[in-house]
Amino acid sequence: MTPPAAPAVPGKDFLSILDLSPDEMLRLLDLAAQLKTERLLGCEAPTARALQGAHVALLFEKPSLRTRTTFEIAVNELGGHTLHLPREFADGAREPLEDLARNLERWVTALVIRTYAHEKVVTLARSAQRLHVINALSDAEHPCQALADVMTLRERWGTCEGRTIAYVGDGNNVATSLVHAMPRLGISVHVATPRGYELPARVVEDAMRTARAGAQVRAFSDARQAVADASAVYTDVWTSMGQEIEAAVRRKVFRAYQVNGDLMAAAAPGALFMHCLPAHRGEEVSAEVFESPASVVFDQAENRLHAQKALLLMLLP
Ligand code: CP
Ligand code: NVA
Repeated sequence: MTPPAAPAVPGKDFLSILDLSPDEMLRLLDLAAQLKTERLLGCEAPTARALQGAHVALLFEKPSLRTRTTFEIAVNELGGHTLHLPREFADGAREPLEDLARNLERWVTALVIRTYAHEKVVTLARSAQRLHVINALSDAEHPCQALADVMTLRERWGTCEGRTIAYVGDGNNVATSLVHAMPRLGISVHVATPRGYELPARVVEDAMRTARAGAQVRAFSDARQAVADASAVYTDVWTSMGQEIEAAVRRKVFRAYQVNGDLMAAAAPGALFMHCLPAHRGEEVSAEVFESPASVVFDQAENRLHAQKALLLMLLP
């Protein structure tokens, strides 16, 4: 018999951008900007002991450079401790995920999990009333990435309202969280995908519920049309982790969706180039664009740390 799901605890988990209200997301972004400045203070930073005594477990079923590293540093710089759980614990084979969560909540404050199946994140979150569960990327969403992306755009643009960002490529986890996050800041999103690789309709409906300042989400099949008037162009890998068997087919299907110099020239003057990384030069982005002054990819990577620190401070007691 499957153990009963615990009653939902509002504000306990971060599985999706939709778990934050637009105002909470703005507060988080303000806090992240403050933490970025205060990092220069090192051990003297006002938050250096904020998570003292807290343990945060990291469980990664898939590879990670940025997410794993930045969560580990974030917890340490806030005075807490991390522990790495073996990836096979996410299989649910040795014991059910419900029991994993109910054990963990007796010892640790939070679980940061990266998994192939979004339902696993949901199951873990619903199984323990005290364990804070953070989605560090699932097949469906990558909300921590979107926080860093929005932070990067605020730094570059100041006021975001009325801007447009174009996402070109696969309607995947990164695209989903981007579409959830941007309209809340008044940023419209143009999503260009090949047919059959569109975002689920539900994602757009959810995003529009919290859209501000007339922001829209529009779907395109033509990349050039999507980037016209866009002040930023975003792409991600054509083959996500877990889809490797489809890689050859995807390389053909997505060929017309490469972000290269020609496509950037069709965007608004001064448009930024964004990518969550890792990137494949010569596939979804040309080397020229990746290395160009328009590219803010390493700002995005840096901001993962500051945004996740802010998230931990807002979520954890
Ligand atoms: N962007 C991102 O999540 O990178 P990692 O897969 O290296 O964590
Ligand atoms: N869409 C990619 C993002 C990697 C950070 C993947 O899921 O593999």
